Amino acid sequence: MKTNIIHCGDATETLASLPAEQFDTIVTSPPYFQQRNYDYHTQIGLEATPAEYIDRLVQVFREARRTLKQTGTLWLVLGDKYVKRQMLGMPWRAALALQDDGWMLRSDVIWHKPNAMPSPVKDRPTTDHEYVFLFSKSDNYYYDIDAIREPHVTFSEGSKMRGGRNHFFKRGSTPESGKNGGQANLHNGRWDQAFHPAGRNKRTVWTIPLSKFREAHFAVFPEPLVETCIKASSPPGGLVLDPFLGSGTTAVVARRLERNYVGIDCNADYCQMAERRLSAALPTLGMKRENTKSKK
Ligand SMILES: C[S@@+](CC[C@H](N)C(=O)[O-])C[C@H]1O[C@@H](n2cnc3c(N)ncnc32)[C@H](O)[C@@H]1O
Repeated sequence: MKTNIIHCGDATETLASLPAEQFDTIVTSPPYFQQRNYDYHTQIGLEATPAEYIDRLVQVFREARRTLKQTGTLWLVLGDKYVKRQMLGMPWRAALALQDDGWMLRSDVIWHKPNAMPSPVKDRPTTDHEYVFLFSKSDNYYYDIDAIREPHVTFSEGSKMRGGRNHFFKRGSTPESGKNGGQANLHNGRWDQAFHPAGRNKRTVWTIPLSKFREAHFAVFPEPLVETCIKASSPPGGLVLDPFLGSGTTAVVARRLERNYVGIDCNADYCQMAERRLSAALPTLGMKRENTKSKK
């Protein structure tokens, strides 16, 4: 199978033409329900009802699951939608439908957008988050916890917290008395959370500003969001899929992190935009743009 390639075509159809068990991870954001016209006869997002929209997503991701390695994962980014003042709960509808279709749901992450658009609503809080769901294909999946650790909040090298500093680099030796005294598993668990020298385990609220890509008329992924997903779910040299590539953010970040990608998008203009973006980004990374463009 060719890698570092953009397939310009329908996601389900293109995925059906790819061999099974190729990808380490999928990082993607499908069109949101009734949000935008992407000008293609099989585009997703303009279905008449939430149920039809969810059915389409389930079909795409069923085909995508076939192309994932047994140890593979899916990071799915989705926002919600209001129709006639009613919040549709779209991210969770999708997550539960994918779970029913055989995916293992492992985490729901809140992507908090500190620079979200202000809104004129006066009878509910302004929405400034979307969901990032982590699914796995099987129980035994690749996940590099150390690659995405975050800084400790309570204890740091300079912490004045009594005893805190003494625990650095001393897994298994956390002194503890009282009712939990002597419970090694508990001590080690706490050490990982509070004193691990590389930071604490990544949390489920990620604060990442929205970013702009000048040419795109739709919301593009912020690079740090994609970076976290790729680092956790694909080893260096691994293979990343984005079946709704848009402006090509997943491809650019994958190459920067020395992973390979396959991108799919149905809109020819966006495929070209992603090609241009890659062509501009790769030389700055000391890489050549592979001439593997595919027209389907
Ligand atoms: C929300 S945008 C993705 C943006 C992307 N994450 C980025 O960083 O630029 C969704 C994309 O899905 C594409 N799309 C819509 N229906 C599709 C389909 N049936 N098959 C493949 N791509 C589709 C649209 O053309 C659009 O580029």
